[in-house]
Amino acid sequence: MNNPFSLEGKVVVVTGASSGIGKQTAIDCAGMGARVVLMARNETRLQETLSQMEGTRHMVVSFDLTDYQNVKDCVKRIVAQVGPVDGLVNCAGISATMPLKLIDVTKMEELFQANVFSGIQLTRHFCQIGNTSREGASVIFLSSIMGLVGETGKALYSMCKGSLVSAVRSLACEYAPRHIRFNAISPGAILTPINQDLPHMKNPDARAALEANHILGLGKTTDVSNACIFLLSDASRWITGQNIVVDGGYTAR
Ligand SMILES: NC(=O)c1ccc[n+]([C@@H]2O[C@H](COP(=O)([O-])OP(=O)(O)OC[C@H]3O[C@@H](n4cnc5c(N)ncnc54)[C@H](OP(=O)(O)O)[C@@H]3O)[C@@H](O)[C@H]2O)c1
Repeated sequence: MNNPFSLEGKVVVVTGASSGIGKQTAIDCAGMGARVVLMARNETRLQETLSQMEGTRHMVVSFDLTDYQNVKDCVKRIVAQVGPVDGLVNCAGISATMPLKLIDVTKMEELFQANVFSGIQLTRHFCQIGNTSREGASVIFLSSIMGLVGETGKALYSMCKGSLVSAVRSLACEYAPRHIRFNAISPGAILTPINQDLPHMKNPDARAALEANHILGLGKTTDVSNACIFLLSDASRWITGQNIVVDGGYTAR
C-alpha cells in the first residue's frame, strides 16, 4: 500500500540540525526516505547528527543563519547540489527568560534575529530560488506554546514565537497558487540543550510543577519530529496556514 507519510524522493532542509528537535527531525526525515540538508553553525555536531542518519546523499551546511549577506549564496549552493527543495523545517532558535525591565532593544534584536528574521530570510530565498518543482513544497516554522499562552518572564520569547504563528497564515495565502504550504508547530516543554540548564529545570519543585502542567508529561524530540514528518509528507497536502500544538495537553487545561 502507498504510504502517504513517506518522504521518499523528497529533499528536506532542516535548520537547527545540530541539536535537540532539529537533530531528531533530520534523523527521522532520513528514516522516512528523505534526502536531508542539515543546517546549523556547529560543524562537528552536524556531522554527529549525520552519523546517525540512514542514507548517504545528505548534505551538511555549517552556516550562521543570521548572516543575511550570504544566505542567498548559501541557498544557491544547496540547490546546485541537491536540486529543488520539497520541504524546509525552520527549527533553529534560541530561548530567553527575563522580566520586562531587562528587555532592551539589544536583547530584542538578538532574539528576533535568531528566532524570526533568520528563518524568514532563509524561507524567502528558498521560495525564490530553491523550489521550482510544480508539486509545491512544505515550509514549517517551530513556534512554541509560549506563542499562545503566557508565563512570567517569557514576554520576549512569546513575541518571537507568536509572530511565527501569525506569519504562516499570510504566507499560506500568498504561496497557495504555487502549492507551497506554510504551517507552524508549537511544542510544549521538551528536554533539550535549549532548556535543560535553566534554573526551573534544575529546581525539583519547579520541574515537578512544569511536568504537572503537561498532563501527558514532558515531551520527547520524536513527538515533534513526527509532526514535522506529517506536515512535510503528502498526507498533509490539504493543510496550510495552521499551527499544530504538540504539548502533552499543556494548553488543554
Ligand atoms: N525544547 C523545547 O522545549 C521547545 C519548546 C517549544 C519550542 N521549541 C523551539 O524548537 C526549536 C528547537 O529547539 P531545541 O529545543 O531543539 O533547541 P536546541 O537543542 O538548543 O537547538 C537549537 C538549534 O538552533 C541552532 N541555531 C541557533 N542559532 C543559530 C544560528 N544563528 N544559525 C544557525 N543555527 C542556529 C543551534 O545550532 P548551532 O548552535 O550549531 O548553530 C541548534 O541546532 C527552537 O526554535 C525552539 O524555540 C523548543
